[in-house]
Amino acid sequence: MTALGLVPDLVPDPMSAPALNWGILAPGGIARRFVSEIPRYTSSKVLAVASRDAGRAADFARQFGVHRAYGSYQQLVEDPEVDAVYIASPHSEHAAHAELALLAGKPCLVEKAFTVNAAQARRVFACARSQGLFCMEAMWARFLPHYAALRRLVDQGELGQVVGLLASHAQALDPDPTARLWNPELAGGALLDLGVYPLSLAQMLLGRPDQIAAQGQLTATGVDLWESITLTYGRSWAVLANDMGAAGANHASIIGSAARVDIPGWFYPPADLVLTRSGGPPEVLPTKVAGGFQYEAAEAARRIKAGALESEIMPWADTIAVLEIADEVRRQLGLRYPVESGESLDLG
Ligand SMILES: NC(=O)c1ccc[n+]([C@@H]2O[C@H](COP(=O)([O-])OP(=O)(O)OC[C@H]3O[C@@H](n4cnc5c(N)ncnc54)[C@H](OP(=O)(O)O)[C@@H]3O)[C@@H](O)[C@H]2O)c1
Repeated sequence: MTALGLVPDLVPDPMSAPALNWGILAPGGIARRFVSEIPRYTSSKVLAVASRDAGRAADFARQFGVHRAYGSYQQLVEDPEVDAVYIASPHSEHAAHAELALLAGKPCLVEKAFTVNAAQARRVFACARSQGLFCMEAMWARFLPHYAALRRLVDQGELGQVVGLLASHAQALDPDPTARLWNPELAGGALLDLGVYPLSLAQMLLGRPDQIAAQGQLTATGVDLWESITLTYGRSWAVLANDMGAAGANHASIIGSAARVDIPGWFYPPADLVLTRSGGPPEVLPTKVAGGFQYEAAEAARRIKAGALESEIMPWADTIAVLEIADEVRRQLGLRYPVESGESLDLG
């Protein structure tokens, strides 16, 4: 058996995190999940929601029992009783919306992909630093028990040297060509919507690659439909693939010199791990939990109440490192978003 520990030993109980009044900026698809899970699995609540349209905000508030509905994002960030803002707008808008919140004095949790490129992320984090406020990418997988278990297995040397990572993320997403995902103006495409999960896992386990090689195809609307990405780290490698036009199994395997970990279901939502030591039988490590978003929200609440600017689990440097890889992948695919016109991508 593995001296791994069970879920309560891997991650603190989200219910024990300080209570915050969250404000939701942009009541789209993912905001519905946030508003459902945060009151259920943490001691925080969603106090307010804002849309660009007062009617949409009111509908969302009514449906989910949110007390305050605002017809502008500015009103939300100016609400003195909102402790932190969850930013759930399209990728193209994240930087501007994060800065809107930060400049109004609000810490923020920003949906993945954090921004469209690394330069924008540096700009947002510089704003958070100068405001003295917490800011974090909502890469929820990093806070889940199975990712904590994976980090612990690697840190304890159970896998030996991590030599390889195989991870794919393929979903048949909304085929409507006018939808957000197909729209370059909103920085749609497989990489920023789906590909950040494999990339973030690779970055968490293997750090910064020496080499990046990508292939893929663009849609008629001008975003990436799929890509394969090979990352090289000295002797180690990661082979990743994303597709937003067809559904895959979305497994991951982390291959070490002494053992392998498989995540046989979807690799980034709550899951059990399967550990197989060289020559041994597979061992299921029970790390699956209900919900999922409560862990990132609880980490944000703890760090905000502690007066921290960032989280050690999803530090600013890791968000930037992931976006630097994504920038290079897009350079190789020939994909630049309209929102980047006039922006320098190299603000190092
Ligand atoms: N963590 C996860 O599992 C997960 C899953 C899916 C998506 N996401 C991420 O969550 C974010 C939002 O995705 P979603 O699927 O929820 O998107 P969505 O359903 O299209 O909702 C986005 C919302 O953004 C607002 N918005 C602000 N500016 C906009 C603009 N210029 N054009 C269109 N909408 C605009 C809209 O609300 P109003 O106009 O009413 O203000 C809209 O409802 C993305 O970063 C995505 O990658 C995360």
